[in-house]
Amino acid sequence: MARRATLKDVAAAAGVSMTTVSLVLNDRPARVSTEKREAIAQAVKQLNYVPNQNARSLVTKQSKLVALIVPDVENLFFAALAKCVEDECATQGYSLIVANSDDSRVTEHDLLRRLSSRGVDGILLIPARESCSDGVGADLRADVERITCPVVLIDRLARCGWCDAVGFDNYLGGRLAAQYLLEGGHKRIGIVTGDVAESSAADRRRGFADALEQAGERLDPALCVAGDYRFASGYRAADRIIDGGATAVFCCNDVMALGFRQRMAERGLHVTEDMQVIGYDNILKRFGLGWRMTTVEQSVGDLAAACWGMLGGRIDGVVNGGGADAGRPWLAEPQGKVLTPKLVQAACA
Ligand code: RIB
Repeated sequence: MARRATLKDVAAAAGVSMTTVSLVLNDRPARVSTEKREAIAQAVKQLNYVPNQNARSLVTKQSKLVALIVPDVENLFFAALAKCVEDECATQGYSLIVANSDDSRVTEHDLLRRLSSRGVDGILLIPARESCSDGVGADLRADVERITCPVVLIDRLARCGWCDAVGFDNYLGGRLAAQYLLEGGHKRIGIVTGDVAESSAADRRRGFADALEQAGERLDPALCVAGDYRFASGYRAADRIIDGGATAVFCCNDVMALGFRQRMAERGLHVTEDMQVIGYDNILKRFGLGWRMTTVEQSVGDLAAACWGMLGGRIDGVVNGGGADAGRPWLAEPQGKVLTPKLVQAACA
């Protein structure tokens, strides 16, 4: 295999010093003529030179890598979010590493340790479901406090108050779902929740129940089924809610709503005619899948812009403000941002 071209080879081919090549390739301030810059670019192309990022990081103290840890890589909401975050990072020359905790506290702990030790410049974390339960959250906080690079919590634990965090108003989202179904004349309404030990799921359920109560209706416990944001839990919940006489159901994410609709189809039931189904996330906006569904949308584009805006600012602070030794403001003076969800009605549910 041909030897990999080095910085020295580029300098020799361009007729300049290695220092000049390094300054030009690292976009550092340098008085270098246009001719020499062009000669360096030509040499890089001809030699197929790829800078050694590890060596570069020693100079710039930056890896230009950011990590995003998601709790369920099979959920299209997180796939869409990862794409939007990757687009945001790329505008400032960063690459994104996506890792999956699979909602496991143990896996999340290992990922945080490994990724931070690999020198990523920042970490975006959607906490694992297991990390959001009372008592376990302290373990996550201890992990984050051991990490020297900036961390932003996304979506879950958005109101934790001990770390930079961005999320949506899940309580409002639950209310929007209830109001839509009540306005449709439904009175026996079921709900398939996420794991209510996790704040986003608990807030959606609470907003939904409060809106029903304020409209003079109540959430019948017999029509309230605990899910886990995964397809199978939506599928399993359907029989109890259908046989319980509900005319509508709020599934607290689209993946469970698709599971619920799968079971309806097996029983020969149709959405709207037999049961109105509303979801959450609007994953079909980007992935279609031949389905249309009324849902509560959390814009992944807005979420990505907000979390990258927060993390990018913290990274700049570390790079330009004296490094991690200058304190960790994402923990010392945490920022919080709460975005607004919106109801998106399907033309045909
Ligand atoms: O669909 C997965 C859910 O988990 C989303 O609604 C998102 O808010 C996350 O909490």
